[in-house]
Amino acid sequence: MLITGGAGFLGSHLVDRLIDTHEVVVLDNLSTGSMDNLAVHVDNPRFTFIEGRISSEAVVKTAIEGVRTVYHFAAQPDVRLSTELPYWDFEINVVGTMKLLEVMRKSDVTRVIFASSGGTIYGETEVLPTPESVAFRPISNYGAAKGAIEMYLSSYSKLYDFNAISLRLANTIGSRLVHGVIYDFYRSLKQDSTVLEVLGDGEQEKSYLHVTDAVEAAILLTKDLQSGFHPVNVASGERLKVSRIAQLVITELGLFDTQIEYAGGKRGWAGDITRTDIDISLLRSLGWQPRVPLNKAIGRCVAWLVKKFGPVE
Ligand SMILES: NC(=O)c1ccc[n+]([C@@H]2O[C@H](COP(=O)([O-])OP(=O)(O)OC[C@H]3O[C@@H](n4cnc5c(N)ncnc54)[C@H](O)[C@@H]3O)[C@@H](O)[C@H]2O)c1
Repeated sequence: MLITGGAGFLGSHLVDRLIDTHEVVVLDNLSTGSMDNLAVHVDNPRFTFIEGRISSEAVVKTAIEGVRTVYHFAAQPDVRLSTELPYWDFEINVVGTMKLLEVMRKSDVTRVIFASSGGTIYGETEVLPTPESVAFRPISNYGAAKGAIEMYLSSYSKLYDFNAISLRLANTIGSRLVHGVIYDFYRSLKQDSTVLEVLGDGEQEKSYLHVTDAVEAAILLTKDLQSGFHPVNVASGERLKVSRIAQLVITELGLFDTQIEYAGGKRGWAGDITRTDIDISLLRSLGWQPRVPLNKAIGRCVAWLVKKFGPVE
């Protein structure tokens, strides 16, 4: 297996899950990922780490040697950065993926599991819960890039016989997460635990899931990887409002006197979707079910942040 982005949050949990039964090669440029996430595997003979970019043909050629299946998790993962630097985001996410797919095609490696996004590709759809059949209407450049990549996975599956699964992931949380709302709240509280400023009005409500549930969904879908292109929503079925997440993080940190202040407005930032509710009927019909309830998932995420970066006082 090749896991691009395997030093990141989701990718490293996938390595943990696969390494006992598979040879695993990780290709990562360590831009947002860290070798700390892979420290327990570096001496494992089944594990190989290659530092480099998915857009480098020579590096990908080396990484893909002897590999049958690629988990493509490398990406610029920040929606806000994709608004500030759209072409830069396009080059990493879309051009980088095209370069990867081209090396795969030329090397006859045609099995790919792609980390797409269940929230951002659907945008502000009125179809809630949102099944896979709903058309893409992204309101962020990050979501547009995920949609573009999915379209190429569809064409590659027809033209070059690729077997492709697109995991349309909900917001994923758990240990090693160093971006997103829980991480932002923790950093802010570490600076000043008396007040937590929340972007938007706190009413934004989204689908979430725990990282180990996301990994189990990826494994289940890989076992039955068929020819063609298959987008599958991956979420827990539970949703959380931002205001509730703020309360849970404060409680998990053992704080009592923190005041929550809302910046106001419907959205946290440009490109932020105010409501996602991802329909997981397809995934459930394949026998998958979430194991970690969201309050526990947040607890694990906060516990890891405290262990890694210190307590909040
Ligand atoms: N975390 C979520 O809530 C979530 C939700 C939906 C989709 N996703 C997608 O899942 C994937 C993993 O996300 P994550 O949250 O683990 O983020 P992450 O930032 O922890 O992981 C991304 C990894 O990709 C690496 N990387 C970035 N650009 C690269 C490049 N050009 N070449 C090689 N490596 C590169 C980074 O160093 C990092 O290790 C991404 O594709 C992301 O868009 C994440």
